[in-house]
Amino acid sequence: MCPPASKDSVPPPARPPALSLPLSLPHAPPDLSLSAFEQQLQWARAQDEADPLAELRACFAQPRAADQTPLVYLCGHSLGLAPLAARARVEAEIADWERLGVLGHEQARTAWLDYAEGLRAPLAALTGALTSEVVVMNSLTVNLHLLLASFYRPDAQRRAILMEAGAFSSDRHAAATQIAWHGLAAGEELIELAPRPGEALLRIEDVEAAIARHGARLALVLWPAVQYLSGQRFDVARVVRAAHAAGCPVGLDLAHAIGNVPLALHEDAADFAVWCSYKYLNGGPGAIGGAFVHERHFHDEARPRLAGWWGHEPRSRFQLRPEFSAATGAAAYALSNPPILSAAPLRAALPLFEAAGLPALRRKSAGLTAYLELLLGALAHGLLDQITPHDPEQRGCQLSVRVRAGPAAARSVWRTLGARGVVCDVRDPDVLRLAPVPLYNRYEDVLRGAWQLCLALREPGTAA
Ligand SMILES: Cc1ncc(COP(=O)(O)O)c(C=O)c1O
Repeated sequence: MCPPASKDSVPPPARPPALSLPLSLPHAPPDLSLSAFEQQLQWARAQDEADPLAELRACFAQPRAADQTPLVYLCGHSLGLAPLAARARVEAEIADWERLGVLGHEQARTAWLDYAEGLRAPLAALTGALTSEVVVMNSLTVNLHLLLASFYRPDAQRRAILMEAGAFSSDRHAAATQIAWHGLAAGEELIELAPRPGEALLRIEDVEAAIARHGARLALVLWPAVQYLSGQRFDVARVVRAAHAAGCPVGLDLAHAIGNVPLALHEDAADFAVWCSYKYLNGGPGAIGGAFVHERHFHDEARPRLAGWWGHEPRSRFQLRPEFSAATGAAAYALSNPPILSAAPLRAALPLFEAAGLPALRRKSAGLTAYLELLLGALAHGLLDQITPHDPEQRGCQLSVRVRAGPAAARSVWRTLGARGVVCDVRDPDVLRLAPVPLYNRYEDVLRGAWQLCLALREPGTAA
């Protein structure tokens, strides 16, 4: 049904080649005429035709407006598109359930007993982990709590958690309530690092300095690999090195990183990481999440773990003995038997990453985002402030921009975009987030989205 992309057709580059971008776009006055658009469209379509990953788009359902016009979908940072094969995967499980009842645990076409097991290897490839370091379970915040229960072990000297100010709310709730769970005051023990005054992004050297400064009282560093609002990608290895030098473990939130940027969790020596699968992994709304625990913690008997029967070693799990005997590796963290229907779409989505090859995806991602940056920089000059780093190494595919005219204007532009078939999102106070996803977006999508955004910004009523 869906044409498999051949990664053989994409030579794996040591580094992305220089981008050939279209004709220079003068800053002022921006030319938003039809002919300027068509000139760009010609260029964008030429890129799409030359794109070795172009056929992957046909593996995804394309959302449409009520009149059946395809939407320009730039919202994979929130919910990735549905792989066309997902429906068949889910229907196969329902059919097996209807046909087999409880026997499906062993006799389903993909036995339910091993269902989550089968997802570990492709997720290990995406996270740069050993298969044994990955477990597929729950959703992100649940996994964060489970891993904090193991890795946040405050004592008399080390009680604090260091995280970024402006972290995703759920991460902050998790950290603050874990501190309270230990009978401590989040007001004292949650240290939140903000960017320098007047700056929107955290400098990695400031993160390192904060870790060193607070080091003696830190029980844990909790950090995102890609920040959800700004799209800033952090150098995970440097964060981990700084934390370990200070003598404390590091947990990572990969919600906006997995499937978006290269990760090397094992080599970088992160202690644990958690993720959701509904963004760049295209696992579907509320899809089963995952977690990573570094191999060096596998036999750490002193570290407590909240346990359930699915974390019991599989051979004797069904003996249902009262004593817990942990499965090897991250699998010991699983609590419950996995939700098959929420895991099934991932079985459709993950092979697409394998088919594309991560270097090729990253190269296309950089090209799409650079084009978006170029268009917005030229056509919305003075109307938007990009907060995502300009350096491609410090971002994934998401570009976040602040609307200078303010929060009301940002909402109004976002509504206008929605009415014109461009799907992105708006976050307080005035941030628009757009993400061209290399698995299914085209240069043409980037152009159409950026063009509509620039037109909307210039419309009467948009100004503050
Ligand atoms: C950065 C980040 N952390 C945590 C979450 C919460 O995820 P969940 O609802 O799966 O717990 C999200 C959800 O979008 C997120 O973007």
